[in-house]
Amino acid sequence: MSHAELQRRRDASVVRAAASIHPIYPAEAKGSYVWDGEGKKYLDFSVGIAVMNVGHSHPKVIEAVTKQASSFQHLCFAVGMHESYVELAERLNALMPGDGPSRAFFANSGAEAVENAVKIARVATGRQGIVAFTHAFHGRTHMALSLTAKANPYKAPFAPRAAEIYRADYPYCYRCPFGGPGADGLCCQHDANRLKDQVASFIGEDQVAAFLVEPVAGEGGFIPAPASFLRAVRAYADEIGALWIDDEVQSGIGRTGAWWAVDHDDLEPDIVTSAKALSSGFPLAAVVGRADVMDAPGPGHLGSTFGGNPVSIAAALATLDVIEEEDLLRRATHIGDRFKTMLHGLQGEFPRIGDVRGVGAMIGIEFVADDAKTPDKAAVEAVVRHAREDGLLLLPTGTYGNVIRLLPPLNLSDAEIEEGLQKLEGALRAALRD
Ligand SMILES: Cc1ncc(COP(=O)(O)O)c(C=O)c1O
Repeated sequence: MSHAELQRRRDASVVRAAASIHPIYPAEAKGSYVWDGEGKKYLDFSVGIAVMNVGHSHPKVIEAVTKQASSFQHLCFAVGMHESYVELAERLNALMPGDGPSRAFFANSGAEAVENAVKIARVATGRQGIVAFTHAFHGRTHMALSLTAKANPYKAPFAPRAAEIYRADYPYCYRCPFGGPGADGLCCQHDANRLKDQVASFIGEDQVAAFLVEPVAGEGGFIPAPASFLRAVRAYADEIGALWIDDEVQSGIGRTGAWWAVDHDDLEPDIVTSAKALSSGFPLAAVVGRADVMDAPGPGHLGSTFGGNPVSIAAALATLDVIEEEDLLRRATHIGDRFKTMLHGLQGEFPRIGDVRGVGAMIGIEFVADDAKTPDKAAVEAVVRHAREDGLLLLPTGTYGNVIRLLPPLNLSDAEIEEGLQKLEGALRAALRD
């Protein structure tokens, strides 16, 4: 069936609110490629929004899922337990930053992971306040959208929003909210002084249950927070008796060249949230954290019908194996370096490429119209369109919609790296000359 005919059926049957970036209907996806129903082949640098880190239909994931599905698909952990749930908890606890004992809980989506992390933090501290940041994205359920920063399309239509959520400034260094580095050249948020002032003056230090931070703001524009800022958040949370929830739903599971983005700087959050790439497209989310914190809620306080579904867990265990066996943490760094080198080279030629940033294979390209850094959303739309026409799937992101995020599979081959570099450069040249 043609895309035009499918589009007609979609328009007549699916809500318009469920928007799609690319007007394509994939029929098959394998490794780094997607084929649409009209036979066009795409190199996929979207990977289902940071989900298929080990590539599409990885044989080990398919094998594990098929085996599990043919033994049993669902019983519900609240009814009867399965060993693989325990095994995945053990695996993730071992990956949790820090040496102390950890505990894990499984849900279905990133938003649910965040919601559960907030529930746990509130019980563990006996406090209610959650400090979230500008440019944050934490999901679309009621609590999660309240924690998300951007008004449209995520929050504005859905008032009233959840209570006891406070907003502090994220260290978006390219657009520093405080006028740039201090005289010492250090990031203005080096000691999180602004955050401390905002908390002490407007929230109350004894009201804060947790700071909820993305180490690389994903939907906000692939903005890495300086390690000094995260370290200062850690110290400040300890000082005032609050917790640090590290939202790694988009940045985790090897994307940045480490299991968690905070691993690059040996940082130790109290709770980590994970979803997306954890289970290669089978719905699963994890909340992992310090045992004393995670065990604050009592029996029955947490639960979910589908959370920790055995088929999704099988996919997750296989995904973790693939990342280890194929050495994909190292590969992520290699891939990221290749793309950053090419992009930095093009920056001199095209001043509209305002910033190239990121960690590992989580790279953002921010487009600006002039020296005042006016966001250039049109450039992003043009690059995405040119790339798609040439068979490369890209995704826009950013509070102002003026960032392209590169999310290649982490097992991209050398030949695929070359193909991606060539297609991306071609799309940038075509779009920026328009
Ligand atoms: C950092 C972060 N947290 C939470 C979420 C929500 O995840 P989900 O869409 O699975 O609910 C996302 C999704 O993009 C995310 O990037």
